[in-house]
Amino acid sequence: MKEMLKKIKEEAMNALSGVTGQTELEELRVKYLGKKGELTAILKQMGKLSAEERPQMGQMANEVRAAIEESLAEAKEHLDAMALEAKLEAETVDVTIPGEKIELGHRHPMNIALDEMKEIFVGMGFEVLEGPEIEESVYNFDRLNTDEGHPSRDWGDTFYFTEDSSLLLRTQTSAMQVHAMETRELPIRIVAPGRVYRKDEVDATHSPMFHQIEGLVIDEGITMADLKGTLHTVAEKIFGKGTVTRFRPHHFPFTEPSCEVDVQCHECGGKGCRVCKGEGWIELLGAGMVHPKVLKMSGIDPDKYSGWAFGFGLERLAMRRFNISDLRLIFENDVRFLEQF
Ligand code: DAH
Repeated sequence: MKEMLKKIKEEAMNALSGVTGQTELEELRVKYLGKKGELTAILKQMGKLSAEERPQMGQMANEVRAAIEESLAEAKEHLDAMALEAKLEAETVDVTIPGEKIELGHRHPMNIALDEMKEIFVGMGFEVLEGPEIEESVYNFDRLNTDEGHPSRDWGDTFYFTEDSSLLLRTQTSAMQVHAMETRELPIRIVAPGRVYRKDEVDATHSPMFHQIEGLVIDEGITMADLKGTLHTVAEKIFGKGTVTRFRPHHFPFTEPSCEVDVQCHECGGKGCRVCKGEGWIELLGAGMVHPKVLKMSGIDPDKYSGWAFGFGLERLAMRRFNISDLRLIFENDVRFLEQF
């Protein structure tokens, strides 16, 4: 029996020293220490031994069991360590590999131009208003003193939703003047940027959708001098100190008198060049003193209050500002173009 115990111990130690996986380890544990294992089988034969031999063999069997258990534990520890090492190896991060570049987006040139304009006007105490692009004709035309039959109401120029021409895609941000007069307490000092729509064919200078920024000031004692002073200051902020402005008589139904404002060409100083198409002047915007009828229609007393308004095209401004020669580039959203700003 002594020999058998010795043999079991040797075999077990041998087997355990070469163990390569957790399943094999468990199989060996069952083989030697399990209920039907080899050591148990021997212990079952203890009854056959003499009274003297029994304690000796018992002690030896215990020692063998203890030795095998210890080896099992060691083998398990070794296997766990190997597994951890393999896992760490597989998950190694090579910090020297160049990182993947994350492309950061940025503002569209139109938004850059718009933000600049907002900043200028907010700095002068104006409030920024936004309003609907789907508009009632009453706001887009009637209450701006533009009656039925006026050429700008033509079906060939305007996107109408209804047969009776009562609902449309706004053709001008001027509609926001009426909303401002309706919702704001006097005095009013607002700018309203946004999209407008007209039935224009797409070309280098036209698009059926474009952006305008509207302005409206109403208070007691407002005069044309305020309009000139403010718009000249704005022109200087956009094009630089010393910019020369020109106020030309014009006609709009909602202002009286009306004017168009030009800036002297910054490229040639007024001599005429490619940028100003030989004119020496660049048209900037339409403006004028708010027509008394327009004030009256929105419940403002024209004998007490007066005001001025303006509207300009933002694309034209952005194109000038960034030297963009074709309007279509602004809306195509080709990243090769947009990346340049
Ligand atoms: N709404 C005009 C347009 O689209 C621009 C304009 C002219 C706006 C004169 C105004 C103004 O407020 O007073 O052509």
